[in-house]
Amino acid sequence: MAHKKIALIGGGQIGGVLAQLIAMKQLGDVVLYDIVEDLPQGKTLDIAEAARVDGFDVKVTGTNNYKDIAGSDLVIVTAGLPRKPGMSRDDLLSTNAKIMKVVAENVREYAPNSIVMIISNPLDAMVTLFKKVSGFPANRVLGQAGVLDSSRFSTFIAWELGVSVKDVNAMVLGGHGDTMVPLIRYANVNGIPVMEMLERKYKDKAKAKEVIMAMVERTKMAGGEVVKLLKTGSAFYSPASSATAMAESILLDEKRLLPACALLNGEFGVTGYYAGVPAVLGANGIERVVELSLDADEQAAFDNSINAVKKLVEDMERLGF
Ligand code: APR
Repeated sequence: MAHKKIALIGGGQIGGVLAQLIAMKQLGDVVLYDIVEDLPQGKTLDIAEAARVDGFDVKVTGTNNYKDIAGSDLVIVTAGLPRKPGMSRDDLLSTNAKIMKVVAENVREYAPNSIVMIISNPLDAMVTLFKKVSGFPANRVLGQAGVLDSSRFSTFIAWELGVSVKDVNAMVLGGHGDTMVPLIRYANVNGIPVMEMLERKYKDKAKAKEVIMAMVERTKMAGGEVVKLLKTGSAFYSPASSATAMAESILLDEKRLLPACALLNGEFGVTGYYAGVPAVLGANGIERVVELSLDADEQAAFDNSINAVKKLVEDMERLGF
């Protein structure tokens, strides 16, 4: 069987790790594109030269020419600037929208049948813009955020409860900003509600609530926590891992149910906006959005997050995109 082809637009921190992870998992041949001359060629040469050691035989090449993405099955976009300390994701809006418009025009021209996953921030706005400019159907344009936010939430829960993170299931929905919605009620350790475990640990409901709320807050601010430490950029290992999990589900048609940034068409009471929701990811991209019941507080938090996404999209439209 011919290898699948994966184009990575943006050969910076996330793009480089993505190229290596995708090669090591042999998901397909990788083409890494960047506007900076020689950068994607250098990174991919370096990765390709580890093939003997890591035992992969997919091709990993770099380019500054969009023509080389022709025939891609999957395109993952990280082009754009990352945050510096003190910046919110939304501060990247105008710079990254300019870049995303050009990316979308080129992907539309050279890889018109691809499924596209956006990682660039501010995520919800960037996915919206890509969809608008490309005119691709909604199932083929999605964003990566929820898998990472959920992994961060799960990590904090595992540390707190002293259990393997492999047994923690926790989901974060909504927009990929400070209003994101970590779902406490659904968080569990192999089926046991996290709140029950916390209440047993502390033998005090109020203390358990305080502890979970601290983890919720840390999850919301987790990207900023890394930015503050790195000083020169934002998280890249965990976003690359998260996107690789989504790519794997799409390329291998695994139909995993993962939180993804998807265009809503009435689900969760929202129409016409992108937001993080549970979705089945397979060979057709977003194969379906999966709804779940939210109580009044969760729905209010979700609506608040959608309002933040709407404001971001309006700001982008006001900028002329
Ligand atoms: N076309 C293609 N690539 C571009 C363009 C463009 N018009 N403009 C910039 N780039 C490239 C840069 O040259 C750089 O190599 O995008 C790359 C971005 O890489 P980094 O600066 O290392 O950023 P990274 O950490 O990979 O994050 C990328 O993902 O999580 C988000 O907020 C983050 O928006 C940021 C994006």
